[in-house]
Amino acid sequence: MKLNIAILAGDGIGPEIMKQGIAVLDAIAEKFGHEFNYKEAICGADAIDRVGDPFPEETFRICKEADAVLFAAVGHPKFDNDPTAKVRPEQGLLAMRKKLGLYANIRPIQTFNCLLHMSPLREEIVKDADFICIRELTGGMYFGEKYQDNDKAYDTNYYTRPEVERILKVAFEYAMKRKKHLTVVDKANVLASSRLWRQIAHEMEPLYPEVNVDYMFVDNASMRMITEPSFFDVMVTENTFGDILTDEGSCISGSMGLLPSASIGCGTPVFEPVHGSWPQATGKNIANPLAQILSAAMLLEHFDMKDESNVIRRAVDASLEANIRTPEIQVEGGAHYGTKEVGKWIADFIKNKC
Ligand code: IPM
Ligand code: MN
Repeated sequence: MKLNIAILAGDGIGPEIMKQGIAVLDAIAEKFGHEFNYKEAICGADAIDRVGDPFPEETFRICKEADAVLFAAVGHPKFDNDPTAKVRPEQGLLAMRKKLGLYANIRPIQTFNCLLHMSPLREEIVKDADFICIRELTGGMYFGEKYQDNDKAYDTNYYTRPEVERILKVAFEYAMKRKKHLTVVDKANVLASSRLWRQIAHEMEPLYPEVNVDYMFVDNASMRMITEPSFFDVMVTENTFGDILTDEGSCISGSMGLLPSASIGCGTPVFEPVHGSWPQATGKNIANPLAQILSAAMLLEHFDMKDESNVIRRAVDASLEANIRTPEIQVEGGAHYGTKEVGKWIADFIKNKC
């Protein structure tokens, strides 16, 4: 298969982990006889510094013309601490999602057997955790009407029926492919927008009679995620709740550096790690490349390359089992491997041992 992939490495550790994502894709291309062509484009703080725009038109064009986007991370502290900054790197990410119409963000929360003891939760609690959070990505408070003056401010949590229907459809379909258990997470006891979500979900239930649907308030869901994560199979929720819950979910596995995501919708799909740009680690060769590598696996799976994505996942498991790990998940006394070394080990494993 031939795929044109836009490469948006962004800021901080982005370029370092991206190199390893590409090395792994190249190993897959070699092994399976595919052709992956890459086209790099700028975004985030890097793009602000160069052209004053975190998601320039040229980058948008490259993304639109590609089959898929592999994205790393954006963000730089110099913008976080400057309340007067007019443009921020994160706006680039939001613009990309909106302009490409990526309304569904798929975030799998998985554990790795040999890392269970590294979870901040007890091993017996996390051992069977394996669920997918489907986060609505182009609506809600992130994009609703906003206002701010010196005395008051508001963000509007605006959702329309078609926006809710299309994300719920994605969620029901994921549930059909998995254990057929869907949890709709909302705050319907307080928010009108949540009541609309719940009403539409009820209306759609008969279309998927095999799916067992339950409704859970977001405060309760956040508790359940750490007391009994194995309860969940597919969870669907609005943009803001999904942002918060997936950060909570990402630490279940023991490191934020392990979780990939896919954003899909109307335009070119984007595959990116859940974690951010970790500016303090830039250039130190210590960032975990696994979330980026697993995002590449999700990319391949999206194009029905199931064997290829499974090979990547097997190689990642093998690296963890063999203790080829970046410092934040290395066992006491174990050698520390760098970003490059972990990526190279996985690419070599794919080429020679899978
Ligand atoms: C995420 C991030 C973004 C979000 C930020 C960087 C705008 O936290 O992808 O979860 O809030 O969506
Ligand atoms: Mn987030």
